[in-house]
Amino acid sequence: MTRVFSGVKPTGHLTLGNYLGAMRRWAAVDQHRSDALFCVVDLHALTVDHDPARVRRLSRQAASLLLAAGLDPELCTVFVQSHVDEHARLSYVLECVATDGEMRRMIQYKEKAARERERGGSVRLSLLTYPVLMAADILAYGTDEVPVGDDQTQHVELARDLAVRFNQRYGHTFVVPRATGPAVAARVMNLQDPTSKMGKSEDTGPGIVYLLDEPDVVRKKVMRAVTDSGRDVVYDREERAGLANLLEILAACTGGDPAELAGGYDSYGALKKDTAEAVVEMLRPVRERHKELCADPGYVEGVLEDGAGKARAMARPTVDAAYRGIGLLPPAGASR
Ligand code: TYM
Repeated sequence: MTRVFSGVKPTGHLTLGNYLGAMRRWAAVDQHRSDALFCVVDLHALTVDHDPARVRRLSRQAASLLLAAGLDPELCTVFVQSHVDEHARLSYVLECVATDGEMRRMIQYKEKAARERERGGSVRLSLLTYPVLMAADILAYGTDEVPVGDDQTQHVELARDLAVRFNQRYGHTFVVPRATGPAVAARVMNLQDPTSKMGKSEDTGPGIVYLLDEPDVVRKKVMRAVTDSGRDVVYDREERAGLANLLEILAACTGGDPAELAGGYDSYGALKKDTAEAVVEMLRPVRERHKELCADPGYVEGVLEDGAGKARAMARPTVDAAYRGIGLLPPAGASR
């Protein structure tokens, strides 16, 4: 059976981008057709300036939202990265296979490091090595497919490169994974700045729809989305980025095609109204289920505990094999 692995980072409240680019497919498709693991990747949240209590809170919330979005622990494994030591164990070994140049070429590193320096802050070493930990997340499980949004494809490419390089040097150990993306809305853009991604890490966000926003807040954000001064509704990602973003969001919510949908509108107002309602209706069951889960924290904790146990058992043999392959002496008594 195909092995699928993916994750969300608890650096902020989860957004419509996370949902359309990744989570929705995990629940609707991946968990049903594969042996799938979905992870709250909390170690990754420590790569930028962080508040420990907030990371804990957001990790719990992300886990509940994964379940609220429809992940079913009977069908897939849901867990928290730091509960499974194999991720950090493998990450170090992969750091001995990756190069400094490879890390510095990563687009997300360049952007985030520049932002951090602009603010006068210092850049954590873990921000540079982040993609190696991500490769470890993926490779530890013999992953075939990594369902992600557009922004993660460079990281998955690195995981592929490291898997191939390790296998060539030290013997076949890792499955070489590939990224899979959604048909539309692989990169949902910020409603106030359609040239940048709708990212969760920004603190406030009139241009960001959060999964737990109240319906009226969602409506307001969509109705105030920045478009351009044109009048006709056409789908053109280059020239009409704001409009294209709304059409893609509507298409993703309703299962339509952005260019075809454009033909059905002659005003921006009507398009915004329909998009707002489609988003509200799509998110309604997620918010409701999330509320129920918040009332039952013991259930979520139990799911995460079981998930970590299953994940550990799946990752251990591959990580042990990597340790042996690269030249580390097995502890006395370990089976060979
Ligand atoms: P993160 O937490 O930023 O995002 C989680 C998932 O949501 C997708 N996504 C988007 N898709 C479309 N439009 C957007 N605006 C948008 N914003 C986010 C992301 O592509 C991702 O699929 N590095 C990863 C977390 C990670 C991971 C992994 C993922 C760590 N280890 C191993 C897969 C496999 C990240 O920061 O995702």
